Amino acid sequence: MKSARPRVIAGNWKMNKTVEEALAFVRDLLPQIEGNAGDVLLAVPFTAIYPLAQAAEGSRLLIGAQNMNDASEGAYTGEVAALMLIDAGAKFVLLGHSERRHLFGESDEWIHKKVVRAVKDGIAPLLCIGETLLERGDGRTKEVLERQLLSALSGLSAEELASLRIAYEPVWAIGTGETATPSLAQEAHSFIRSWLSSHLSKEFADKTPLLYGGSVTPENSRQLLEEADIDGLLIGGASLSLDSFVKIVHDSTF
Ligand code: PGA
Repeated sequence: MKSARPRVIAGNWKMNKTVEEALAFVRDLLPQIEGNAGDVLLAVPFTAIYPLAQAAEGSRLLIGAQNMNDASEGAYTGEVAALMLIDAGAKFVLLGHSERRHLFGESDEWIHKKVVRAVKDGIAPLLCIGETLLERGDGRTKEVLERQLLSALSGLSAEELASLRIAYEPVWAIGTGETATPSLAQEAHSFIRSWLSSHLSKEFADKTPLLYGGSVTPENSRQLLEEADIDGLLIGGASLSLDSFVKIVHDSTF
């Protein structure tokens, strides 16, 4: 049932690009993705959300954030709330990216609270999950994915999670140049899909886009997308260059 799900190509710029650089990128990108089928997303630094959302208005490019706080507002110096992101024009937010989990100590519990807040306030969560090299070596990949899914999505209904997208990003493949092989990524995606089917519903599992992330390049993107349960890609390094991002978008529709 792969064809029932939209193809999603998402860039994650991390802590890169000034407003001027970001605007130049998006202005050049827009005409090149006009007729493209599928969704094109860019998760950008907070400072670039408003200008890029304005520039992308009416196009098929969705601008999003890379993080948010779980509180609705208040005395949380340095944090940004879901409603602020929506107000600035963000259409989605990455939650639980491995850099947030590992460099900034975000726990499963906190990520769950963020997912709940995103759903409640009306911004689409793009939940990132994935195992470390040590966990994979110990044969614990599925256990880790299951723990992250169970914790992040607990108590939420299929209806509440209608806008959810999930990215499987093995930690050992992020920024390392070491991509998971298509079959290894497919195995994890198929596990995630069956987990969604048994914990939410088959209908929900069939329609939820599952993205792969971790050292995706124009050289390996197409092969990954040919797998039955890989509906899209979350791209870090290769999304910073217009040429490689556009090439991945163009190669993604087949
Ligand atoms: P990468 O990053 O493509 O540079 O490996 C992916 C990500 O962190 O989302």
